[in-house]
Amino acid sequence: MKDSLQMSYRGNFFASVRDITAIRAIKTPVSLTRLAAQPRPLYPNVVRTHFGSLDFLSYKGANLPPNKEAYVLATKTAKLIQKSSHLISSPLTIVDVGTGSGIIAITLAAALHKANAATDRVIVATDISGLALEVADRNAQINQVRDIKFRQRDILAGIKQEFGTVDFIIWNPPFYESNDIPTKVRRANFIPEIAINGGQDSLSYYRSLFSQVSEVISDQGVIIVQVRSWKAEEVETIAKSFLRGASSAEIKGTRGQVLGLVIGNIKIVEMVEALGLNTFQKAGILVVT
Ligand SMILES: C[S@@+](CC[C@H](N)C(=O)[O-])C[C@H]1O[C@@H](n2cnc3c(N)ncnc32)[C@H](O)[C@@H]1O
Repeated sequence: MKDSLQMSYRGNFFASVRDITAIRAIKTPVSLTRLAAQPRPLYPNVVRTHFGSLDFLSYKGANLPPNKEAYVLATKTAKLIQKSSHLISSPLTIVDVGTGSGIIAITLAAALHKANAATDRVIVATDISGLALEVADRNAQINQVRDIKFRQRDILAGIKQEFGTVDFIIWNPPFYESNDIPTKVRRANFIPEIAINGGQDSLSYYRSLFSQVSEVISDQGVIIVQVRSWKAEEVETIAKSFLRGASSAEIKGTRGQVLGLVIGNIKIVEMVEALGLNTFQKAGILVVT
């Protein structure tokens, strides 16, 4: 895999090295207000997005520039993982499916590291796109996050064979209707189709994920998916058609909208409410303490 990735990426390689140098030079403390900032163009084919102390580069045709919703979901998930680790036998196995820029896996790894979370953990980030994985790996280096295992996989294929059962599965899947992808989302074809096209009814990747999870998820485990608020009910119905008897809870975003669903083991799902992750968070960002 690595060889073909290097070859397909060669055209951008020198630009990327310059970009990383530039990122290091411009790294400055940021206030929460800047979190809402749109990705900033750095070079014609590269944008930089900045959340808290984390920087992410995105490349035209390779990955979706990370958005605030994914960042908020990742910080809330980090808190859920940290606070529920006593319910799960270690090491915890966490899989970020379709990592794209690496936003979820990198934010999780950085937050758990910052919180000195004592539990042993394995963090895996997958994507079907080799280019996206190359970008995610580079973003992990920029942010000095070293403990993520990147794998080129079709959703969860081969994960159980390599890592055993998984305790936390997180995915922000492609979720636009194929006939209705907003022009501003396409951003002049910056974003590859594979990152945004969710099929005719926008839900096909949720079906694919949930059809695979029962084989992979541990008894204590949960699945966390990013959703558009108005699709949350349909996604929950899909999830429960594959995971009969599973519990579920909503994670709310900065405006009180449903940002994500947590589905699976009741004890961990109950933690969502206990930690207040299902409520409106004014600042939108949880500091994991
Ligand atoms: C909406 S993007 C999310 C990217 C990133 N996790 C985020 O939140 O910004 C969906 C990602 O899923 C990946 N993807 C699409 N189909 C996939 C599949 N069958 N298996 C694994 N990843 C897939 C895409 O390449 C893309 O990176």
